Amino acid sequence: MNKPKILVVRAIFPEVIARLKQHFEVTSNPADEIWSKTQLIGKLQGHHGVFTTGGERIDAEVVSQCPDLKICANMAVGYNNFDIPAMTAAGVMATNAPDVLTETTADFGFALLMATARRVTESEHYLRAGQWTKWRYDMFAGSDIHGSTLGILGMGRIGQGIARRGAHGFGMKVIYHNRSRLSAELETQCKASYVSKDELLKTADHVMLVVPYSPESHHTIGAAELALMKPSATLINIARGGIVDDAALAAALRGNRIAAAGLDVFEGEPNVHPDLLTVPNVVLTPHIASATLPTRLAMANLAADNLIAVLTGKEALTPLNSPLNSRLKRTLDQSNPAQAAPDNVA
Ligand code: 8YV
Repeated sequence: MNKPKILVVRAIFPEVIARLKQHFEVTSNPADEIWSKTQLIGKLQGHHGVFTTGGERIDAEVVSQCPDLKICANMAVGYNNFDIPAMTAAGVMATNAPDVLTETTADFGFALLMATARRVTESEHYLRAGQWTKWRYDMFAGSDIHGSTLGILGMGRIGQGIARRGAHGFGMKVIYHNRSRLSAELETQCKASYVSKDELLKTADHVMLVVPYSPESHHTIGAAELALMKPSATLINIARGGIVDDAALAAALRGNRIAAAGLDVFEGEPNVHPDLLTVPNVVLTPHIASATLPTRLAMANLAADNLIAVLTGKEALTPLNSPLNSRLKRTLDQSNPAQAAPDNVA
């Protein structure tokens, strides 16, 4: 019996590749080359599954030109690289990697908030440059975290993790805005109060962005929103590039219209808006919020679990287009009856 074929688009943990090889014929990318969309389509020919890492666009063009493709498993909770309606219409399963990165990412939200509010990187650069010759009472004075008001825009699992850290760990007053309000029970757990977006921007000392990217959330924070924020406020983006208008933010930082920003994600990554590179009051990190080895391994294993489940005729663990679960099983049964487990025959 031929094993299904899968493509792993980027270099990942060797142990995850070894696991995948127990089930599949694997085409991997140990050199970690970055493929263009045309190259990706070429590599995908004859493959039944693809392991993506969040940066590879899977849209109508890809699914129509890769007729064997049945599942795309993202090693990321965000899935704005997937055109879900196009994938669903083509009968291609999409999965992401939620939950396993929640606490690690919430930790990083706090790391970036504290580094930004307390001017950690700016002061380190000063020290490394040999500029520290004497102490001054107001040297690198920042803003307090404890007792301040934390405004969280986007209150999914990661937002809730940040709220708990802020409220319980630092005695912050937590306010949030989200498409839908949390249950009373979750609000109590997170010690968070629901407010309008404008009220959040006007009253928070620290604004944390954790909203998923979509065309609707593009430039959620632009010049108008930055103008609502307190001049002493900080803005933290661990969500996605494009949620913030980076040019408008650089201008606001340069004009001290807000105090500081901490950014882990950027429009057009891995490129960073040149104006952001020259303003001092911003902390910049290269999209590392989920980057601890145990968490990245858990994310990779979850993507692998989804590939193994779907291509052996079982249901995806974390589907993004759930109704396909049952339809896809039929497709597998018809195209390769040997793949379907008896209890999964449609
Ligand atoms: C990933 C992320 O590291 O999960 C997400 O949505 O943004 C990060 O945790 C990134 O997408 C690359 O996989």
